[in-house]
Amino acid sequence: MKIDVLLGLQWGDEGKGKVVDVLTPHYDVVARFQGGPNAGHTLEFEGQKYVLRSIPSGIFQGDKVNIIGNGVVLDPALFKAEAEALEASGHPLKERLHISKKAHLILPTHRLLDAAYEAAKGDAKVGTTGKGIGPTYTDKISRNGLRVGDILHDFDKKYAQAKARHEQILKSLNFEYDLTDTEKAWFEGIEYLKQFHLVDSEHEVNRLLAEGKSILCEGAQGTMLDIDFGSYPFVTSSNTVCAGACTGLGVAPNKIGDVYGIFKAYCTRVGAGPFPTELFDETGKTIRDLGHEYGAVTGRERRCGWIDLVALKYAIMVDGVTKLIMMKSDVLDGFDTIKACVAYRVNGEEIDYFPFDIAEGVEPIYVELPGWKADMTQMTSEDEFPEEFNAYLTFLEEQLGVPVKIVSVGPDREQTIVRYVEE
Ligand code: GDP
Ligand code: IMO
Ligand code: MG
Repeated sequence: MKIDVLLGLQWGDEGKGKVVDVLTPHYDVVARFQGGPNAGHTLEFEGQKYVLRSIPSGIFQGDKVNIIGNGVVLDPALFKAEAEALEASGHPLKERLHISKKAHLILPTHRLLDAAYEAAKGDAKVGTTGKGIGPTYTDKISRNGLRVGDILHDFDKKYAQAKARHEQILKSLNFEYDLTDTEKAWFEGIEYLKQFHLVDSEHEVNRLLAEGKSILCEGAQGTMLDIDFGSYPFVTSSNTVCAGACTGLGVAPNKIGDVYGIFKAYCTRVGAGPFPTELFDETGKTIRDLGHEYGAVTGRERRCGWIDLVALKYAIMVDGVTKLIMMKSDVLDGFDTIKACVAYRVNGEEIDYFPFDIAEGVEPIYVELPGWKADMTQMTSEDEFPEEFNAYLTFLEEQLGVPVKIVSVGPDREQTIVRYVEE
């Protein structure tokens, strides 16, 4: 019995999809536990690139079962498009993908509400992905949501009631819209969904564990976007932290084994909100260009900066991380020196913990380390790591108190190096 969790420690896009795919052969099952099509998880292998949004990243390895848990919010139209594209590219899903009947449905009007609320916020807007995530989770919490299991009985009535309620709000916000096309595609998605195994995933997950099977939980977004612990209100609307795997799949906390925390060798953020180590200069632009830091789905420019160890320590604490995974090491290959933020200065005072509010007046305090000036992308074992790169890893491990188990040196599945670390 084993259930491990892999999650992002920064503001998302750390490279979760790639590593879940790499780790899948070691597990029987891969499960998503929160988020929805706001995610864009990229995988590259055999010269092909795939971007997954709602479907777990374990779908490409053999015949592994993949589960979409109750904590996920699902847009049937986007799901259909994603699943059909995968099937067309030679990756049959229908027998291998199980969907929780308790997962909540994103309605076309949720997407409209997302846009309307953002417009109403003006300059204070969150910069959401526009996929209806916030309004769907709002309906879930306020006990008004529609769930996947609802599509099996008397659905039209439930849908009409929810739609009418949403339309009242849209009217009060003077938001203009036309639902004709989106609603048609959405109902096609509902019919398509019925072809999948719609399951009580909490029973399935616990049965699999009792049978001695192993499960890898795939997080979406990142810890700094968590609804409770992220940079509120510039966050997503779900619990992205490790505890989200328990509520989003129905597993007890004492069943969780390893927690893989994944981070980039630097830091990025997309959308609005505070970002203490953000770089507005040429260095930031260079990182963006070298790291191709543009949204996997939206193409939005990602904001770039140096690694923030204050935020990372905080994320490791709330997630209970046991193993670290460092991504995109190769992006820093050309730098003479590399900076790491080890503390913040707030109102003239130096602090090394993550404060209540990082919105204003937080100045990062950096340590500068020598760069490795070597092409990491061709490396296949840690024996090849340059001295300066090892020194960077050792520095991070000392600061963070957790070993770096995996280092990623390029986007391809093969460009992944497992390190020997004492356990
Ligand atoms: P996710 O949302 O956490 O799965 O991450 P995204 O897919 O949104 O963004 C990560 C991006 O970095 C993708 O384009 C990956 O192909 C790419 N990537 C992942 N690991 C590496 C790496 O080690 N080096 C480089 N250069 N790119 C990487
Ligand atoms: P993956 O899983 C990066 C950000 C949005 C916005 C905020 C709220 O690919 O790492 P939402 O649509 O969720 O209400 O938007 O969260 N955001 C992400 N940023 N990666 C993601 O997912 C994200 N999902 C949401 O940009 O700032
Ligand atoms: Mg992403």
